[in-house]
Amino acid sequence: QRIIFSGIQPTGIPHLGNYLGALREWVRLQDSATEGSKLFFSVVDLHALTVPQESTRLRQWRKETFATLLAIGLDPSRSTIFYQSAVPAHAELMWILSTVASMGYLSRMTQWKSKLQLPEHTSLEHSSAKSKLRLGLFSYPVLQAADILVHRATHVPVGDDQKQHIEFTRYTANSFNHIYGPLFPAPQALIFSNPAPARRVMSLKDPVQKMSKSDVEQRSRILLTDSPEDIHKKIKLALTDSEPDISYDPIRRPGVSNLIEILSHIDSEKRSCDELAREFKSAGIKALKEHVAKTLSDYLRDIREKYSDIMVKDASYIDRIADIGAQEARANANITMQSVKSALGL
Ligand code: TYM
Repeated sequence: QRIIFSGIQPTGIPHLGNYLGALREWVRLQDSATEGSKLFFSVVDLHALTVPQESTRLRQWRKETFATLLAIGLDPSRSTIFYQSAVPAHAELMWILSTVASMGYLSRMTQWKSKLQLPEHTSLEHSSAKSKLRLGLFSYPVLQAADILVHRATHVPVGDDQKQHIEFTRYTANSFNHIYGPLFPAPQALIFSNPAPARRVMSLKDPVQKMSKSDVEQRSRILLTDSPEDIHKKIKLALTDSEPDISYDPIRRPGVSNLIEILSHIDSEKRSCDELAREFKSAGIKALKEHVAKTLSDYLRDIREKYSDIMVKDASYIDRIADIGAQEARANANITMQSVKSALGL
């Protein structure tokens, strides 16, 4: 039986990187799901607390993120969609997993370092790490492992940047199973990159960085709800280079290549990056940008329209769907917690 779990942090309206790296695949998996498989998609609001949040803004972002999941085509009658904080078993299993999770492994992981803007080789002994690092940010991957394992997920569709976290989940599941018996299946990451070879959608402002919700620069990312005007403006401002021709060369020409990759992801003829680069070779960057902006804006129209339909509905619309999702998720998680507790002697 295939059990799919994935999550997204409510740290702003989801962007194109979230969509092409993960969310679009969630919908595809839902739409191609066979009898007996289960799908769980969570707005992981407890994870968002690992960096400082303002409560009014977080409340808004949770709702916007949930609405986006509905707008992209997740269907509550086929997928369980819920807020992580509405299912206490996630945090409960996290505590239990933290009794087997390795500190050494966690200290080698990169996310806490990048969130604190420390270099990748920083150790826990580093004075700046010691003074700034909070326990929740350090143990973020343990909560993520709990999210996945509490639903006994077999497959986790994520972007490439989450690979390390899924590896950690497998390792921790294995450590637990080793001590208490085979309770957790080893989940497998599903990382999509087709048709582009690129695994991450990059920032429009600094194309050697991934497109990210936490970048202060709005123009670094395309939000799924951006108007056609916003999309045109942001693509027009996207950082490229001054070479006259168009070519696909992610190392030497990250900016142009990122635009080609985005185009390849959404191209109706599914052309590869090399094919697209050949086609636009002598058209010039202005024409390429115009084409990307137009294609993208058409491509995102449905999502944009559905999103605004959902946001004008009465305030309880999302809450009602979220309540049903939480009930289903709680029921599934509780089955796991019963066997975990019995294996532990609780
Ligand atoms: P988050 O909220 O940062 O991102 C949600 C999903 O979007 C993918 N993604 C990208 N893919 C391609 N290019 C990009 N520029 C890009 N930016 C983001 C991410 O890989 C992710 O799949 N830790 C997770 C949330 C989480 C989770 C989980 C995921 C919590 N528990 C359990 C899976 C299973 C995160 O911060 O995703």
